[in-house]
Amino acid sequence: MKNVDLRSDTVTRPTPEMREAMCRADVGDDVYGEDPTVNKLQELAATMLGKEAGLFVPSGTMGNLSAMLAHCQRGDEVILGNKAHTFLYESGGISALGGVHSCQLPNQSDGSLALEEIKNAIRADDPHQPITRLIALENTHNRCGGTYQVPAYTQEICDFAHLNGLAVHLDGARIFNAATACGMPVKAMVDSVDSVTFCLSKGLCAPVGSILCGSNEFIRKAHRIRKQLGGGMRQAGILAAAGIIALESMVERLKDDHARARCLADGLRQYPYIILDNGTAATNMVFLSVSDEVKHSTRQISSLLEKQGVRVGAVGEKRFRLVTHYWIDDEDINHTIEAFGMIKK
Ligand SMILES: Cc1ncc(COP(=O)(O)O)c(C=O)c1O
Repeated sequence: MKNVDLRSDTVTRPTPEMREAMCRADVGDDVYGEDPTVNKLQELAATMLGKEAGLFVPSGTMGNLSAMLAHCQRGDEVILGNKAHTFLYESGGISALGGVHSCQLPNQSDGSLALEEIKNAIRADDPHQPITRLIALENTHNRCGGTYQVPAYTQEICDFAHLNGLAVHLDGARIFNAATACGMPVKAMVDSVDSVTFCLSKGLCAPVGSILCGSNEFIRKAHRIRKQLGGGMRQAGILAAAGIIALESMVERLKDDHARARCLADGLRQYPYIILDNGTAATNMVFLSVSDEVKHSTRQISSLLEKQGVRVGAVGEKRFRLVTHYWIDDEDINHTIEAFGMIKK
């Protein structure tokens, strides 16, 4: 039976080239800063993103958390979107572990935050209020459908932030997808932000890990926080070796995932009972709702699809997310379109 797993690009397994590189990896104790493969990965990532330094962390969540704790003191406030991954899906780590307060602004449908709303959210110099310290953005925006922001938007927010003494952190878990969709080098996408996290273990296919990039001084701070969070890893070069392949060989091909997501959306459009989100598929995600014409529940629809070997993410009442990635080919896309044809029967 087919196994077409479209729940997320996090389900990607390492490629044969990655497994080979992992076997051969030169390693050392990274807590001592002595793992040559980790060092190489961090330098490569920083160079690609145009930042002074990079820090290998076990997950995107730890990258975002380390960054926000490095930017903020206890009681400081971060402005972020009400659909941000950092707000919805990271277990409230910034407040639980860092005492950081959050001010949530509505994400617009394209994932952006309106500059006017940010301006209004900045706290007055008043001892009753927390101190606004940081703005956190997300690109591509997961919960807003894999939408992306162009560099001019990020620049505008950063210019405003910097004029007002604020820093900007970007959750760029899928920043290479955003760069691919914009047709820009990734450096241009993150040029103006103070720090950025991106994931090696999503569309780039590495088994584990993310990188936090920023200035030397910022990364020194974040390094200490990573240690406090228990994220110091020893012979992590085994993992970093796959990360190097991810950066060297997997970026170019993201355009194929985007083309397949568009193909999938186009194929699903034929069914009158499927309502695709506006603008889907901007990158590698397709978001859709199933109309009441289909009597099955969310769970029944998922299980009908699973019986045909298709796994999708349920993200609401009769609402689903499908994510393309390295292990999804053209035949899988056709099979998925056919499988959705069966849910009405
Ligand atoms: C936008 C975004 N940021 C951060 C993360 C967290 O990454 P991790 O699962 O590696 O902690 C995810 C995970 O899916 C994500 O989609």
